[in-house]
Amino acid sequence: MSPPILVSFFLFLSLPLLFLLSPHLLSTTHFSSSPDADDLSLFRRATTTTRHLSTASNQKPKIAFLFLTNSNLSFAPLWQKFFSSDPNRHLFNIYIHADPTSAVADPGGVFHGRFIPSKKTYRSSPTLISAARRLLANALLDDPLNQYFALMSQHCIPLFSLRFVYNYLFERSPNSAASRANHRSFIEIISHESNLYERYLARGVDVMLPEVPYHHFRVGSQFFTLTRHHAKLVVKDQRLWKKFRLPSITEDPSYPEEHYFPTLLSMVDRNCCTGSTLTRVNWTGSWNGHPHLYTPEEVSPELICNLREPNSRNYLHLFARKFSPECLVPLMDIADDVIIRDNEVVLC
Ligand SMILES: *[C@@H]1O[C@H](CO)[C@@H](O)[C@H](O)[C@H]1NC(C)=O
Ligand SMILES: *[C@@H]1O[C@H](CO)[C@@H](O)[C@H](O)[C@H]1NC(C)=O
Repeated sequence: MSPPILVSFFLFLSLPLLFLLSPHLLSTTHFSSSPDADDLSLFRRATTTTRHLSTASNQKPKIAFLFLTNSNLSFAPLWQKFFSSDPNRHLFNIYIHADPTSAVADPGGVFHGRFIPSKKTYRSSPTLISAARRLLANALLDDPLNQYFALMSQHCIPLFSLRFVYNYLFERSPNSAASRANHRSFIEIISHESNLYERYLARGVDVMLPEVPYHHFRVGSQFFTLTRHHAKLVVKDQRLWKKFRLPSITEDPSYPEEHYFPTLLSMVDRNCCTGSTLTRVNWTGSWNGHPHLYTPEEVSPELICNLREPNSRNYLHLFARKFSPECLVPLMDIADDVIIRDNEVVLC
């Protein structure tokens, strides 16, 4: 065939394709970073993975630590200490989603090579939801032993030893598949907050309908610890994601990442969620949507034991945010004696 004929032949072929794709193209033109063609195939693989935990095996379940960051992991040395009691990684895995535009350095040690394919993230945008889902999907696929998925930021620190955290999550049931199904997710789910309705309207009147009526709309901290069952539910979801990924039309930030996860899980499996997070945050004196940022002068053994205090549902806090990078030095000073001390746990 001659080139002109070839060209028209291909144009002709691509016409139906264009029709098929155009609603999709139209609906995504508002995005600062386009979602998710390659994500979809990742998510599909993660939810259809046939790698199951052999119930006969004596392998211990693991915690997947998911680090979502757009800057260097300043507290890597503290986390290294936290993980060092388990040099062969029998109890945990690490996954890092780092904004590719911010040149995040590989901290080495247990973090070495644990970066997953990542995309740019923007504050108060659905890109943070995508990043968290990417972390969950990679961890689901990577190791069937991953049974809890704990999301951290670069500002998060541990409040206890790895052994303590591990026992806290898994102790309530022995290592069997049947009881593992009873594990609950630690995710904050709040149904009453002063500006909840404004945030519901952020994408426009009636836009969330019919998938998300207002009485199902929830808010909660972005930092959660999910069971494997819930991690799969989140990665599989397209119904709610279709709405939550829409851009906000209001001036005020809408923080979709604080709504998507609690709304979805409260709609599909509320009874298997504690409704509270394990990650302590201090909203006193918050500013522009940012919680209190701890400075080096505030770091002390008393602060650590204050932060550990149980939440209103009587679960301890195992992690905390938000700490400025300069806190590393005073935190390392009290790491061995206070933070990751294994034998006795200090509550104030
Ligand atoms: C991260 O750390 C490396 C050195 O370890 C440095 O070169 C780089 O500028 C840092 N990146 C940011 C975003 O601070
Ligand atoms: C929370 O932050 C406020 C300052 O905004 C501080 O005074 C208070 O001590 C902090 N609370 C805890 C438990 O750290």
